[in-house]
Amino acid sequence: MDLNGARILVVGATGVLGQRLCERLSERTTRIAVTGRSAAAAEELRRRLGLRSAHALDLLDHDAVAAVVRAAAAELGGLDAVVVASGVAAFGPAAEEDEAVVEELFEVNALGPMAVVRAALPHLSEGGVIAVLTGVAAELPLAGMAAYAASKAAMASWLGSLRRELRRRRIAVVDARLPHMDTGLVDRALAGLPPALPPGHDIDDALAALERGMERGVHEVRIG
Ligand SMILES: NC(=O)c1ccc[n+]([C@@H]2O[C@H](COP(=O)([O-])OP(=O)(O)OC[C@H]3O[C@@H](n4cnc5c(N)ncnc54)[C@H](OP(=O)(O)O)[C@@H]3O)[C@@H](O)[C@H]2O)c1
Repeated sequence: MDLNGARILVVGATGVLGQRLCERLSERTTRIAVTGRSAAAAEELRRRLGLRSAHALDLLDHDAVAAVVRAAAAELGGLDAVVVASGVAAFGPAAEEDEAVVEELFEVNALGPMAVVRAALPHLSEGGVIAVLTGVAAELPLAGMAAYAASKAAMASWLGSLRRELRRRRIAVVDARLPHMDTGLVDRALAGLPPALPPGHDIDDALAALERGMERGVHEVRIG
């Protein structure tokens, strides 16, 4: 797909990667609808970049997902791409994980994004793209982040099945297995402290790879 002039919904647009992605995409299209948990933050981003629309969306609110996606698709006159850039982390030994934290990880990293994609599918154009930021954690279950990695692996598996199912509609499903970047995500963890992590990868380099992956309709975006 061509990102120039494309109609794109970015969920989790007020996070570090989401915002930077919107800044980059806005040089090629302003037909972008953004969501963030805070309506004010999403609107501020929309105004700053001159984007089409902004919505508040908390993925823990199941009922809101379909309505927000439908509204965004209507405002854009359909969708060429959906990017899910929302997510939360949590750390600590698997044996000591808190049930509520595990539940939230799966809600935000897997069940919510699945609901977003399901709601977006009827509005996606042929040749369109679904892109979800899963991360290397989806395939690298390191000690100290079991439920986080499991929630990302669940999403990655779901995307793999979806990709096969959407072949006929020529909709690309891009699983962005991005490496660690210094966005502060780990400091905003729901619980625990992160293990020692490698130096953060360059954010613009990773997002450029994501954009190329979306344009080429690759299955997975990997770096390095
Ligand atoms: N940073 C990394 O090293 C890295 C590597 C690979 C993959 N990723 C993935 O990339 C994504 C973005 O991460 P980031 O580094 O940009 O972190 P971030 O700055 O903390 O952004 C996280 C985003 O998720 C949103 N979010 C959190 N809980 C939510 C909920 N209940 N409902 C809706 N949205 C919710 C946040 O919304 P608010 O803005 O409203 O707080 C924010 O937009 C995540 O899925 C992360 O797992 C990150």
